[in-house]
Amino acid sequence: MKILITGGAGYIGSHTNRYFTSMGDETVVLDNLSYGHREAVKWGRLVVGDIGDRAMLDSLMAEERFDAVIDFAGFISVGESVENPSKYYENNVVKMKALLDAAVAHDIKYFVFSSSAAIFGEPSRVPIDEEHAKNPINPYGRTKLIGEMMLEDYGRAHGLVSCPLRYFNAAGDSSDALIGEAHDPETHLIPLVLRATRTGKPMRVFGDNYDTRDGSCIRDYIHVEDLAEAHYLGLKYIMEHKKSEAFNLGSSDGMSVLELIAEAERVTGKPVPHEIVERREGDPAELIASNGKARSLLGWTPKKSNVGTILRDAWNWEQNRKY
Ligand code: UFG
Repeated sequence: MKILITGGAGYIGSHTNRYFTSMGDETVVLDNLSYGHREAVKWGRLVVGDIGDRAMLDSLMAEERFDAVIDFAGFISVGESVENPSKYYENNVVKMKALLDAAVAHDIKYFVFSSSAAIFGEPSRVPIDEEHAKNPINPYGRTKLIGEMMLEDYGRAHGLVSCPLRYFNAAGDSSDALIGEAHDPETHLIPLVLRATRTGKPMRVFGDNYDTRDGSCIRDYIHVEDLAEAHYLGLKYIMEHKKSEAFNLGSSDGMSVLELIAEAERVTGKPVPHEIVERREGDPAELIASNGKARSLLGWTPKKSNVGTILRDAWNWEQNRKY
């Protein structure tokens, strides 16, 4: 198969690109390198370009004749989306529409989409299954939900078969540290915890007064290589069944921020300097995925998603990263 991976120079995209090529598929990564890293595309062909550039998409799609698109070309920062919603609607909605229009025009039938737990907003119950109400509470989450809705509409009108994947907390890195998480600025917990360990500069824990077992927020950390495999299984599933299907992807285990810090101290053998500060706006107390649908329909089982393995890979990356 030949697959277009948009945003494939980014964190989850680059691991997914690696996974597909390891399974013998041919990939073309399309990335404008605004956040992605050229060094992360070690497999397949890299085309530097923007998903909003319809003329470029037309010539690339005519030349390559893709069987499917996997779209990672979204902006991902919740805080930034609140301050600058226009940037998020432009990239995650307007440019995604250009990509969908091009895909339909070139008769590409299958589309796997990077969605997010953020589409659910403040959960009314955990674990969160696919039937849970979708009430995003920030522009980032709204753009992802709109992306899913566009896919439904294009499915009805044009027969596009899609697979939205709602990630919970993507974490970890490739175990050989060839590729890994490299956001700038970094806002995610695990890299910041490990950076504090390495530099001795304290990281901030956003709130210890939540209604949870130790007062800090609980999240469901899912290894990026498990996510990569889910894209592969998801695409195979929709191609085989010719039917769109969305999945929540997490480990179904919750870990609090303070528990994660303790585990990082165990894995690295070093203290994690930290201070408790005010809550960060918009952080739900607890987010845990129900992964039953992905397990039963896709046969997906997270293999690397215990926090010890995630932290070991992340610590290796933190000490050996090349970009
Ligand atoms: N946290 C800290 N200190 C930090 C950074 C994070 O205490 O310096 C805490 C947060 O309050 C949260 C947990 O660590 O409780 C995880 O925070 P991240 O920023 O790593 O991840 P989020 O859970 O906020 O975000 C993730 C995805 C988003 C997605 C969101 C869904 O990264 O893309 O889940 O709500 F939108």
